[in-house]
Amino acid sequence: MTEKTKPKPKTKSKPQNKPKRENKTDAKDFTERAIQSGSGRLNWVVLALLIVGVAILVYVSGFKLDDEAKLPQKSEDQLAGGTPTIGGPFTLVNQDGKTVTDKDFRGQYLMIYFGYTYCPDVCPTSLTYMSDALDLLGDTAARVTPMLITIDPARDTPEHLKEYATYFHPRLHALTGSPEQIAAVAKAYRVYYSKVKGEDATEDDYLMDHSSVTYVMGPDGMFRLHFSHGTDAETMASRLRDIIS
Ligand code: NI
Repeated sequence: MTEKTKPKPKTKSKPQNKPKRENKTDAKDFTERAIQSGSGRLNWVVLALLIVGVAILVYVSGFKLDDEAKLPQKSEDQLAGGTPTIGGPFTLVNQDGKTVTDKDFRGQYLMIYFGYTYCPDVCPTSLTYMSDALDLLGDTAARVTPMLITIDPARDTPEHLKEYATYFHPRLHALTGSPEQIAAVAKAYRVYYSKVKGEDATEDDYLMDHSSVTYVMGPDGMFRLHFSHGTDAETMASRLRDIIS
């Protein structure tokens, strides 16, 4: 049955429409034009035939297309429910000099950004978007804890982070740690960072190259989703609203 039904809709539809429209050679082109123009009942008949054909193919092939469409979501679900491929336990120091671990934040959604306070523009922009997203969330924001984890522990002391955090969000947790602690948490979150050895870089004056991703972790400490660099506050807020409600 599989092999017999497959070619049917395609061969049926092609000869039907070919004589009517001279220029069209392939079905895809034709379908696009049919959708664009919105005219011609025949176009819609052919389109309907194509849809029926695809539906049959999907059904016959054991929902193969359906499975494929679900793949990306599946892997996200796996991340959320199974082994934490992104994230994991950490022990760090907050801007008050107090040691904190990931367990201290259970029950809260976490928005985590890895950056550093000397960053000229990427980090401030990302942290601003994060804060704006929380403002847009209204009351729901109370369930989300914004967090900055420095990838420049040599310069980002708790005191330094404390002042920096006040520029963004009153509840921003700004965390630092030993180079080893930072390396461990960055590895767990698959964050890349590296000191830029520019010509005018000195021991205290240098730039860091680093990935710019905002992670959202669930109240269970598991990865939920991430926002790539440049995601605006509105998009963040709307996706957060989706998963929190
Ligand atoms: Ni940065």
